[in-house]
Amino acid sequence: VSAAAAVVSLVGAGPGDPDLLTVRAVRRLREAEVILHDRLLDPAVLDLARPDAVRIDVGKGPGESWTQERINALLVEHGRAGRRVVRLKGGDPFLFGRGREEVDALVAAGLAWEVVPGVSSALAGPAAMGVPVTHRRVAATVTVVTCSRAAGEADPDWDALARLGGTIVVLMGAAARAEVGRRLVAGGLSPEVPVAAVTNASRPDQRVVHGRLADLGSLPIEAPAVIVVGEVARYAACAAEAAALAAA
Ligand SMILES: C[S@@+](CC[C@H](N)C(=O)[O-])C[C@H]1O[C@@H](n2cnc3c(N)ncnc32)[C@H](O)[C@@H]1O
Repeated sequence: VSAAAAVVSLVGAGPGDPDLLTVRAVRRLREAEVILHDRLLDPAVLDLARPDAVRIDVGKGPGESWTQERINALLVEHGRAGRRVVRLKGGDPFLFGRGREEVDALVAAGLAWEVVPGVSSALAGPAAMGVPVTHRRVAATVTVVTCSRAAGEADPDWDALARLGGTIVVLMGAAARAEVGRRLVAGGLSPEVPVAAVTNASRPDQRVVHGRLADLGSLPIEAPAVIVVGEVARYAACAAEAAALAAA
C-alpha cells in the first residue's frame, strides 16, 4: 500500500524520547485527525500532533476494558469515516506489538493502511547502555524474546536459547527475571555470563543495572525494562564505571 493512499498508519513511536521518532512518524503525527495511542507513551510525542487532533488512549493497563477487538473496531470506524488515523505504538509496531492483528482488521474492512517502522526498545535499550547487540568475535547472533504469552502459547525454548548463546534480549521480562535466569543456567549457560537491564530507556528517568546471570533474580529491575543476557552486557558495566569516574 502506498503511503499516499493510506488512511490508517501504524506508526512506531520509538522508545520514548521524541528525538528518536522517524521523520515519517513526525509527518504522520502532524497530519493525523485521530490518534489512538498506547499507554507507555511520552506526552512530548503527542505534543507533536495538531492541537485539534482527537487523542484516544487505548492503553491496556490493569483493569482496563480496551480489548484488542475494540481497538481494531475503532481503527476501522475512523478509517471508514475517511479520517486520517494514526495508530501510535511503542517502539516498532511489528515487534511484540500485535501490529499485524490491527492490519488484518483493516485489510478485512478494505481500508488502505501502512506501517511506519519505529526504533524498537530491543535495540534502543541496549544502545542506551552502550551495549552493542552484536560485536565481532563476541556475539554473532542476537535473539529477541518476550516473557509475555497469550493463553495456550508455548514458552520460549530456553534450553535452545542457552545452547545458541550470542546475545539474548528479553522484553517484558522484569517480573519473570528470576525464572529467566534459572532457565538459562539450567540450559547450560554459565552463571557468570554478564547481564544488564535498562528501565525507561531514552527517558529522563532511565535506569541501568548490571550483574551476572546467577544474580538476575535479585537485581532491582523495574518494568518497562529491556534485559540483555550475554558477553556484550559487560559494556553496560564499562559505561557505569565511566560515569562514576566522570562524576568523581
Ligand atoms: C508490548 S512490548 C512492545 C515492544 C515495542 N513494540 C518495541 O519495539 O519496543 C513492551 C515492552 O517493550 C519494552 N520497552 C518498551 N519501551 C521501553 C523503554 N523505553 N525502556 C525499556 N523497555 C522498554 C519493555 O520490555 C516493555 O515491557
